Amino acid sequence: MEETTVLNFIRNPDPKLLNTGKEYSELMMKYNCAMLEIKTKLDVLNSQLSLENDRNPFESISCRIKTPKSIVEKLQRKGYPLTVDSIEQNLNDVAGIRVICSFRDDIYTLSKRLCSQDDIRVIEIKDYIKSPKPNGYRSLHLILEVPIFLLDEKKYMRVEVQFRTIAMDFWASLEHKVKYKKDILNSDEISFELKKCAEEISRIDTKMQDIHRKINYIE
Ligand code: GTP
Ligand code: MG
Repeated sequence: MEETTVLNFIRNPDPKLLNTGKEYSELMMKYNCAMLEIKTKLDVLNSQLSLENDRNPFESISCRIKTPKSIVEKLQRKGYPLTVDSIEQNLNDVAGIRVICSFRDDIYTLSKRLCSQDDIRVIEIKDYIKSPKPNGYRSLHLILEVPIFLLDEKKYMRVEVQFRTIAMDFWASLEHKVKYKKDILNSDEISFELKKCAEEISRIDTKMQDIHRKINYIE
């Protein structure tokens, strides 16, 4: 698709009104299918692990497809062409899943089980729990490829999966708000406070994990 076509589609993103959006809509449909595949895999793991352990390994799961506006913004920001092919080649997070767990151990159990499934290709693992970002951000990010089966093809599609504890998610939500609010006073001080909170939260995650292990006689 030509650059202008993508932009037209994005300005007028109703595929029924514009034939030009067909290629874009097809790609988004594929991302949506891939996202559902991964979500189902996580739901299956959740069902089995909760039967075994009598509790859910994750508290919540949410899925989203990146909006046309953020797709364009990201392509422009990174200097990639504004074409449908370029979206698939250059963006890893068009389909995104966020999994919120109670404990850090659950994150590693779930991600290990997911990555070892034989139809999954692990493209990248970014462990911001073991190596937090300088601002204090913690989460485990996986870039995966999963096959989807369409009418006449099998196609691997990319999905980004973010695993966080409840506490890490609490922190990231506030930090996200701060980042996108432009008119904040004392922003250096706020960044410093947030970083301290991230460290305290991490200590609490460790304590909660230890208590949980003790209750369940886990070494
Ligand atoms: P983008 O940040 O999406 O351009 O990609 P990247 O290649 O830098 O990937 P990274 O794994 O660093 O971040 C991917 C996603 O993780 C982001 O889109 C956010 O959802 C989340 N994330 C990463 N860093 C932060 C952070 O410092 N704060 C918050 N709140 N979220 C973050
Ligand atoms: Mg980033």
